[in-house]
Amino acid sequence: MQVYKVGGAVRDRLLGLPVTDIDRVVVGATTEEMLAQGFRPVGADFPVFLHPKTGEEYALARTERKSGRGYGGFTFYASPEVTLEEDLVRRDLTINAMAEDDQQNLTDPYHGQRDLEARILRHVSPAFAEDPLRVLRVARFAARYAGLGFTVAPETVELMRQLSASGELQALTAERSWKEISRALMEDQPQVFIQVLRDCGALNVLMPEVDALFGVPQPETHHPEIDTGLHTLSVLQQAALHKQPLTVRWACLLHDLGKGLTPQEEWPRHIAHEHSGLKLIKAVNERFKAPKDCQELALLVGHYHTHGHRALELKASTLLELLQSFDVYRRPQRFEEFIAACEMDARGRKGLEQRSYPQADYLRGAATAARGVAVQPLLEKGFTGPALGEALKRERLKVLKAYKDAATA
Ligand code: CTP
Repeated sequence: MQVYKVGGAVRDRLLGLPVTDIDRVVVGATTEEMLAQGFRPVGADFPVFLHPKTGEEYALARTERKSGRGYGGFTFYASPEVTLEEDLVRRDLTINAMAEDDQQNLTDPYHGQRDLEARILRHVSPAFAEDPLRVLRVARFAARYAGLGFTVAPETVELMRQLSASGELQALTAERSWKEISRALMEDQPQVFIQVLRDCGALNVLMPEVDALFGVPQPETHHPEIDTGLHTLSVLQQAALHKQPLTVRWACLLHDLGKGLTPQEEWPRHIAHEHSGLKLIKAVNERFKAPKDCQELALLVGHYHTHGHRALELKASTLLELLQSFDVYRRPQRFEEFIAACEMDARGRKGLEQRSYPQADYLRGAATAARGVAVQPLLEKGFTGPALGEALKRERLKVLKAYKDAATA
């Protein structure tokens, strides 16, 4: 049997990037031979094994990755006769379809190295269409390697467009899609992920609520970029530049969904978009079964981001309501993430990327002031139950009034 490194390990070594995962393909072996050598099978009818010592993945060379619709419809044909070239031709991109042996001799029948040098993400063959998840994968690789100058080949965009139009994307499970989406959002240029999905019509299938933002104008005074879709991309870009966590990036992507619902005659104003957007945010959250912290923050940021921007003008009572809604007493981190998302929203505007955001410190100060109200003295005064809650609120309101007066004097 012959063993080759394949996929990302070869690609990233040639790009001069650190290699984390190493996948290997085994040619000329049977399942029985692998088991006899101590390899542990990964799944019952899946010709993938883990090395007994290193735990690294070894897959038998295989063909026929798919037999039906969706992820369930996969069958594998692995046999010692399957050649390396036959295995590689079933892979997604030419830059992912290279193999190398122990001496770093490259097997590159589909010209992955040429495409690496030309900075092109190109599908290997029509077999690309066997797994619709690859539409998201290509967009994710585009987001990851955009900084190196990579773009998607026009013929690959075309194939992605056909796949998106075919209804195949709907067959993807929430779990598989979320894995790609969340990884893509954590790349250096997550806005490229959304842009590539949009270019091939996949965004309209996966997140029509986000797609609908393109072409929707906003007032030029606050939004020199005007277009809500472009604004959303810029907010996401700012979130990545400022190394924000996934929760914040997810909230940034969804914060303005309500603007897609504004009747055209009201453009470019978007009155109460914070409220109208909530049901859309909820729908996208649930479609991809986003983790609870992502779901929560997206809804809160959607609801309250304009409060964040107007922080210094808010009445003390509104400020208190905001802090209560976030439960800043028990969830300080979540409020920090809200502030971060608001700041990214403020900076994700053409020409305003470097603006200062005094609201951030003001909100932090307000949270600290409200948290500073001690419960003990109120208990000592005999407050209990709901009355204690009311008394706490009154005290917090008092300190917030003083805080506001001092800070805005
Ligand atoms: N592959 C594929 N189609 C998929 C998933 C994987 O063709 N839907 C192939 C590609 O050749 C890929 C390899 O399997 O390079 C390994 O897949 P994976 O580990 O998911 O990705 P990597 O390319 O290693 O990329 P990453 O750095 O994102 O892990």
